[in-house]
Amino acid sequence: MTINETRTETMRAAAFHRFGGPQEVALERVTRPVPASHEVLVRVHYASVSIADHRVRARDVPRGLKLPVTAALGWRTPKHPVLGMDASGVVEQVGADVTDFAPGDRVVLLRGARFGCHAEFVTVRAAGSIARIPDELSLQDAATVPFGFGTARTFLDTAGVAPGQKVLVNGASGAVGSAAVQLAVRAGAIVTGVTSARNAEIVRGLGATDVVDYARADFTDAGPVYDIVVECVGNAPYARSRRAIVPGGALLLVITDLVGMTGAKLRPVRGGIRRIESVGVITGAMLGDLAARMAAGEIQPVLDRVFEFDDIRAAHEYVDTGRKRGTVLVRIGQSPSV
Ligand SMILES: NC(=O)c1ccc[n+]([C@@H]2O[C@H](COP(=O)([O-])OP(=O)(O)OC[C@H]3O[C@@H](n4cnc5c(N)ncnc54)[C@H](OP(=O)(O)O)[C@@H]3O)[C@@H](O)[C@H]2O)c1
Repeated sequence: MTINETRTETMRAAAFHRFGGPQEVALERVTRPVPASHEVLVRVHYASVSIADHRVRARDVPRGLKLPVTAALGWRTPKHPVLGMDASGVVEQVGADVTDFAPGDRVVLLRGARFGCHAEFVTVRAAGSIARIPDELSLQDAATVPFGFGTARTFLDTAGVAPGQKVLVNGASGAVGSAAVQLAVRAGAIVTGVTSARNAEIVRGLGATDVVDYARADFTDAGPVYDIVVECVGNAPYARSRRAIVPGGALLLVITDLVGMTGAKLRPVRGGIRRIESVGVITGAMLGDLAARMAAGEIQPVLDRVFEFDDIRAAHEYVDTGRKRGTVLVRIGQSPSV
C-alpha cells in the first residue's frame, strides 16, 4: 500500500435490493462507515427489527401514502438497503470535534428514517439521537428503548398526559403500545389497554387497570370516557375514536393514513378533540432519560425474541406476522456480555 492509499474496511450488514418479503434480506459485506468530524462510530451489539423495517422492506404503508413514501424509499430499488432504525452498542471511534463521547462508551441510538442499524457499525451525530447507557442497564435491554419508548414518549409529551387522566392505548402489546401504557401509568394516568386475550396479562403487568379484548368488545362502546386515545393499530381513526374521547381530549395518531394525516394537519382540533399525527424528534436527552428510568426499574423492557444476526430473515418473518409483543432484536455484536 502506498502512503496515500487508505484501506477501505468492510463489515457485515443485512441488506435488501428489491422490495418484497423477508427472503429479500441477506447478509453481505459492505463498506464500513467512517465517522465525520461531528459523528460517533458505534459497534452495534443489538438492533431492533421493527414494523418500520417491515413497512419499508415490503412497501406496506397506510392507505394513500404509497406515492409520497415511495418517493422517500426509492421507486425501483431501495434507497436504504440496510434497514434498522435503532441500536445499542459500544463507541468504536469518535470524530475530531466530538467531546461528549469516547471509545468504549456504551450507548443507545436512533437513526430513524436514515436506517442502517442492521450492520456491525453505524455512525450517528454526536449531538443527535444518542445517549450513554447507565452501568446497571444491559445493552440488550437498552436496545428496547428508542423505537417503542422514544415514539410513545414524544406523543405523550406532545399531548401533555397528566395525573388522573384516563388514557386508552389501542395496540397495547406492541412496541409503541407497551411503552405508552407504561409511560402513561408512570405519569399518573389510569390506563386501559386494547389487546387480544393472549396478551391481556402482559398488558395488565405493565400497569393497565383495564383491558379490552378487541375480539370481544369495541372500546368506543363505553362512550366518551377517555382524555387521550393512543392509536397504535390503524383501525381507530378520528371517525371511530371520537366516540370514546371527552371534549378537550386528544387522539394520538401514531399510525394513520393519508386522510387522517391531512385531516389532522389541516384541522388539528375537530369536535373539541386535538388530533396529533406528528411529533418532534426523539433527542439524545430523551433516550438518556428513558435509559436511566429503565435502569432504575421505573419502566421495563418488553422483549419478545432475540435472533442471531445470521437468522435476521427469521426475525423479519416473525415481525411480518404482526403478532410480536414489544420489541424483537437481532444480536449483532461479538461481545454480548458487555
Ligand atoms: N408515527 C411514528 O413516528 C411511528 C413510530 C413508530 C411506529 N409507528 C407505527 O405505529 C404502529 C405500532 O407500531 P409497533 O411497533 O407498536 O407495532 P408492533 O409491535 O408490530 O405491533 C404488534 C402488536 O399489535 C397488536 N395488534 C394487532 N392487531 C391488533 C388490534 N386489532 N387491536 C389491538 N392490538 C392489535 C398485536 O397483538 P395481538 O397479537 O394480541 O393482536 C401485537 O402485539 C405501526 O403501525 C407503526 O408503523 C409510528
